[in-house]
Amino acid sequence: MKFLIDGPTPLNGSISVAGAKNEALKLFAAALLVDAPVTIHRVPEIEDVQRMAEMVAALGARVAHTGDAYTIDPTSLAHAVLPADLMARIRAGLVLLGPLLHRFGEVILPLPGGDSIGRRPIDFFIRGFRAFGAEVIEEPERIIFRAHHLAATRFVFPLVSVTGTEALLLLAVRVSGTTIIENAAREPEVAALGEFLRSCGAVIDGVGTSTLTIRGVDRLRGGEVTCIPDRIETGTFAAFVAACGGELEIRDCAPALVSAPLAILTEMGMSVERDDAAGVLRIARDTPLRAVSFQTDGYPGVPTDLQPPLTIAQTQAEGLALVHETIFEGRLFYIDRLLKMGAQAILCDPHRCVISGPRVLHGTTLESPDIRAGMALLIAAAAAHGHSTIDNVYQIDRGFARIDERLRAIGVQITRTEE
Ligand code: EPZ
Repeated sequence: MKFLIDGPTPLNGSISVAGAKNEALKLFAAALLVDAPVTIHRVPEIEDVQRMAEMVAALGARVAHTGDAYTIDPTSLAHAVLPADLMARIRAGLVLLGPLLHRFGEVILPLPGGDSIGRRPIDFFIRGFRAFGAEVIEEPERIIFRAHHLAATRFVFPLVSVTGTEALLLLAVRVSGTTIIENAAREPEVAALGEFLRSCGAVIDGVGTSTLTIRGVDRLRGGEVTCIPDRIETGTFAAFVAACGGELEIRDCAPALVSAPLAILTEMGMSVERDDAAGVLRIARDTPLRAVSFQTDGYPGVPTDLQPPLTIAQTQAEGLALVHETIFEGRLFYIDRLLKMGAQAILCDPHRCVISGPRVLHGTTLESPDIRAGMALLIAAAAAHGHSTIDNVYQIDRGFARIDERLRAIGVQITRTEE
């Protein structure tokens, strides 16, 4: 399946932001931890959600889907052998470890897949589960987690890890005693997961901070939850305007969750109006842009998932920008495809690149390496002169719902072909 794109195209119109992918996926795991059905609203219509729904259904949970809501009934869970084919496609399956370990005492984990943005080790998960007293047996193709008795612990993350924090949180809430997780991730999606677990009866202090204190409980209620707006979609659409020009109203978003990326766009010369109460951003490019150097960081810094779109914006700005990707070592390799389009960039090392602009980009044939780089190449193609094709669009569909339809509505000349 491919996207066919013609450019350059200034954006115009209004777009609504979907629910947060990186919250929705973890709420499926939370649903397996509690003792009654959970309904999740505002679930984005993306491939990763479908894979996660298939995963929990394969484990025996009943999954019902109507509109943007999923209801998961964990009472019929049957086993804890995670499907290898699904685990190979989404790394977020790791957050299922805690709930399954509680229910079955043993979990068989095929080695996870996910984005090719770096080595993606899981040593923090192994060390974290062992800290609770779980036995972790590492085999060539799979890892076996066993726990006949889990004990509360204090675990300090060597590096901030989003799914690592979530995996240990989803274990700790049902381990008797008081667990302390330090150097925890503070991403809004992690905080939203913590708040949902509290609404189900979990006892967690420090939600949204880097120290979580959890007192284990025996029972957890089911309930309903609505995903927060996807801040990565929000920031991606804002960077899209910087790269292509025009103006865009971004609706149903939470501007406060993207303050750092918006500050970069403002410094570049973009017009950024935010109405936090209404959940609306108005972004326009009405002056030539200035290149601005930036680095990625954990929340509330510039998220690594917005590095590719913001880097594309730098190619259309005057001057030099140093992009420093501090989180992943494999998240700048899409730069070679940008060079093919006429961008002027130097990849200094796996973590840094220098972009010199503005440069006219030319359409070409591209392939989507992962979710966020795939979307960045789509933005570059829409900003480029001429025709582009993007292959492997499954990667983009993993994280952006109905993206061709939504982009056509704001002026992008994009069509999807089944070939
Ligand atoms: C989550 O990935 C997100 N995925 C990623 O979004 C996001 O880019 C990333 O957090 C950073 O914000 C989901 O939530 C499903 P990490 P995660 O553990 O949790 C190292 C997208 O496009 N590390 O926070 O896998 C790791 O190598 C995706 O939506 C270890 O060394 O990322 C990295 O350098 C892409 N050992 C750093 O920690 C471990 O055991 C942060 O990674 C785990 C991680």
